Amino acid sequence: MDVIRTPDEMQRWSESARRSGEQIAFVPTMGFLHEGHLTLMREGRRRAAALVASIFVNPTQFAPHEDFARYPRNFERDCALMETVPVDVVFAPEPSAMYAPDSQTWVEATQVTAGLCGPHRPGHFRGVTTVVAKLFNIVKPHFAMFGEKDFQQLRAIQRMVTDLNFDVEVVPVPIVRESDGLAMSSRNVYLSPDERRRALALSLALRAARDHYRESACCAEELVFVAKRVLKRTPGVEIEYVEAVDATTLERISSIDHPVLLAIAARVGKTRLIDNTVLAP
Ligand code: PAJ
Repeated sequence: MDVIRTPDEMQRWSESARRSGEQIAFVPTMGFLHEGHLTLMREGRRRAAALVASIFVNPTQFAPHEDFARYPRNFERDCALMETVPVDVVFAPEPSAMYAPDSQTWVEATQVTAGLCGPHRPGHFRGVTTVVAKLFNIVKPHFAMFGEKDFQQLRAIQRMVTDLNFDVEVVPVPIVRESDGLAMSSRNVYLSPDERRRALALSLALRAARDHYRESACCAEELVFVAKRVLKRTPGVEIEYVEAVDATTLERISSIDHPVLLAIAARVGKTRLIDNTVLAP
């Protein structure tokens, strides 16, 4: 497995792979890898002859008060995990290699980022779409894998690819969960044992809403009510939002005649967690 540190070298590698007729699959990450990331990488491995993963904790997607400095990092462990896939190339640039001090160009998908996490994380999605646009120009992939765990991020990137004519196929990958249902996340390491138990409320709330929908084919408002009831039962879980939205446009809906995304963001102690499920009529 090669480790590449600069955009120039990465572009040369990708250009040469493309010239020899190889297709490139790409998995962008911020590292501190878990089974969710590895599932994306295995999907990439199946799709293309060359597999590139990036490890870059992107400063522009963290608001000033957020956890950029303390975001968990362990490059050696990440490399050992990527060797098992196996990944061909790890692109791991320094922030200074990615952003010039006078950099001033942004990519933003406006409507799909207006709701859900958007208002709670100002500037976040603009940072994500900008860095992913840059990574696409650097890695030049044919396929790029994104997890449904970050459903709004997936939709923002799909919008960007369509609107800006990126020649990349975005491949969505379902949420990978721990055996008890907690959605895997690099941020789960922040949780104390007690918080880890409380964090289960998110997936339990989604499951309760899903069961309720199966039994009564109810409206969106009722799904939100059922999920909130479960979250409110658990002390130490502070709801940021629970929303049912159109799974394509992410706009608010009332009746369920298209697939619906039921999405939760909540704080458990100081840790912000998200989870979601898609319900089809
Ligand atoms: P990161 O949080 O490291 O996630 C990298 C990719 O792994 C994303 O596509 C995310 O949705 C996916 N992922 C994380 N946990 C998952 C899980 N439990 N199941 C399935 N997929 C999961 O998302 C980012 O990094 C960044 O915003 C990035 C796209 C790299 C841009 O900086």
